[in-house]
Amino acid sequence: MKTLLYFADFRSDTVTRPSEGMRKAMFSAPVGDDVLGDDPTVLRLEAMTAELFGKEAAVFCPSGTMTNQIAINVHTKPGDELICSPLAHIYNYEGGGVAFNSGVQVRVTGDAYGRVTPAGIAELIQSPTNVHSAPTRLVVMENTSNKGGGTCLGLPLLTAVGAVAREHHLAYHLDGARLWNALQKDNESTESYGKLFDTLSVCLSKGLGCPVGSLVVGDSAFGQEARRIRKRFGGGMRQSGLLAAAGIYALENNRQHLQEDHDKIQEMDHWLSSFSWVAERKPVETNIVIFALGENHNAQQFQSFMTEQGIGVAAMDSRWLRLVTHRDIQQAQMDVLHKALHAYHLSFGAL
Ligand SMILES: Cc1ncc(COP(=O)(O)O)c(C=O)c1O
Repeated sequence: MKTLLYFADFRSDTVTRPSEGMRKAMFSAPVGDDVLGDDPTVLRLEAMTAELFGKEAAVFCPSGTMTNQIAINVHTKPGDELICSPLAHIYNYEGGGVAFNSGVQVRVTGDAYGRVTPAGIAELIQSPTNVHSAPTRLVVMENTSNKGGGTCLGLPLLTAVGAVAREHHLAYHLDGARLWNALQKDNESTESYGKLFDTLSVCLSKGLGCPVGSLVVGDSAFGQEARRIRKRFGGGMRQSGLLAAAGIYALENNRQHLQEDHDKIQEMDHWLSSFSWVAERKPVETNIVIFALGENHNAQQFQSFMTEQGIGVAAMDSRWLRLVTHRDIQQAQMDVLHKALHAYHLSFGAL
């Protein structure tokens, strides 16, 4: 089987390979059996993360999909409803898990950038006393919004939505797969997010460069139930301290580099703005740029052209593409992309 290794891989921030320092930390980590609750490195990562958010519990899981699905499962029962953006990862990219795992249906509100309004959320809330409707139990926000183009929702908006959720006694969960990027952009603290949400899912395997891992954070009763559901979903891991060590390394060393990813994406967005064949660009706020090609261009063809130059890009449909910066995009990768964009322009710019 042919494996494709891109020289410059802009498809996602999940493509990073563990750095030398991270590998060393993983190799030397003390481990136990986490299902039996005695892996010291996992316990340390969980305690560190809970403390970061000022919460009582954090549960280490293999993926951000699992941490979101666990939170949804704990907050709801079959027949309930949750509210999220139409762009939400839980709604688009978790394999129908909301329905499959929890028997919950989804109501959506918001714009093309993943933003919502408190009034838009309030309008969708269904009363638990109306026998005709599925009772709303949960509001899920995603910050940054992946499909929205890395948009930051901002603490004031999230606080206003949280007030609506509280008023209606709804649980409030954050899909914070890229919360680290939002905190960097808005200069906000983890504690302020911990205060606002009942539960948060944060990923280590995106901007922070870990090979695996996400945590779901909440109070101690939530943590206990989350552990049960993690086991039920098949996410109980044994000597997972090897993976948790990467997480500890990332939290201690890699958050401070996120601004470099944000600066690079601004530069790329600037390049894209100069080409006539780029018809639209979503606003760029963190480490993602999403753009659409003009009428006579095709995203799959653009992707093939880039692949031939050793560059990975993600075609989202026939027009829209996504580029993401991360720890493995350095100046050499930026230069290759810049050159390839000009080469594409020379070959197809006149179309
Ligand atoms: C916003 C968001 N939430 C959740 C996930 C799921 O993470 P994982 O791929 O670890 O399951 C992703 C993955 O890209 C994501 O972008």
